[in-house]
Amino acid sequence: MSEALSTFGPADAGVLGSAAPDVVIRVRDLVAGFGDKIIMKGLDLDVYRGEVLGVVGGSGTGKSVLTRTILGLLPKRSGRIEVFGADLDEVSEREYDSIERRIGVMFQQGALFSGLTVKQNVQVPMREHLDLSPRLADELAMLKIELVGLALDAADKYPSELSGGMIKRAAMARALALDPELVFLDEPTSGLDPIGAAEFDELIGTLQKTLGLTVFMVTHDLDSLYSICDRIAALAEGKVIAAGPIETMLASGHPWLKAYFHGKRARQFDPENVACRAKAGATGHLGEARLNGGAGFDNAS
Ligand SMILES: Nc1ncnc2c1ncn2[C@@H]1O[C@H](COP(=O)(O)OP(=O)(O)OP(=O)(O)O)[C@@H](O)[C@H]1O
Ligand SMILES: [Mg+2]
Repeated sequence: MSEALSTFGPADAGVLGSAAPDVVIRVRDLVAGFGDKIIMKGLDLDVYRGEVLGVVGGSGTGKSVLTRTILGLLPKRSGRIEVFGADLDEVSEREYDSIERRIGVMFQQGALFSGLTVKQNVQVPMREHLDLSPRLADELAMLKIELVGLALDAADKYPSELSGGMIKRAAMARALALDPELVFLDEPTSGLDPIGAAEFDELIGTLQKTLGLTVFMVTHDLDSLYSICDRIAALAEGKVIAAGPIETMLASGHPWLKAYFHGKRARQFDPENVACRAKAGATGHLGEARLNGGAGFDNAS
């Protein structure tokens, strides 16, 4: 286990409480890459049940590759990945299928199939995994579409007819199609305006709480990190260089973390307010914080 993770245990669960957290994803000594290019160089990571984990790192550090490798969509060179306690390399096709049904994914690119309507997109995972009558599939898809705050008439629209924010919501509806326990979101707020991004954060936070989701969220969005993430894992040099609540990131002496969290675009930080906001579900004022240029919660209160 790397030095960065040697203190990575229940104490770091922070707002999750003092009991030993249930680990939903366990990655150990992961090595992965393409040809001569090694992207993951012995990476360790735990994701706890019921948390929103924000995954940060410079562009090209391997956040999307890590996501796909955990999902078993990209091969690894060595190391161990467990999802819901199972090593995906060792499970049968049937077991993989049943694990896959418990997972929802919103990919960074190609969020929706352009030739399918929103409703049909939401039904793709249902068709793959469930044997539903068309009527039930329609009813379920409409429920998901409503759940993510889309107007019902969006159901029959094609992706080209939607705004960026609506596409994100539709992609979220598809990720939730099978009532997953674990959701992977790759840059869910990228490309949204500050209000749209704040609303989407609020949606993620609300869904996480009401559905009891575990969320693995890759993001560059500092506001998302402050507003909905229980913990953050920072990737650099092919490893998780720090993992813990935002306070851990702010206290880190690592040059990338210092530049990211204390650089020009970073906000002023009030530790007390962050802890309160994350668990009180008081995300409504975040839009203001964003509109104030991320001025900080000490200013937003
Ligand atoms: N299919 C692939 N074949 C070869 N190289 C790849 C492939 N997918 C990703 N890479 C390389 O792996 C590295 C990590 O890519 P990845 O997409 O995971 O970065 P990222 O951290 O998600 O970046 P961003 O923040 O820009 O989304 C990059 O150097 C990329 O060029
Ligand atoms: Mg990426």
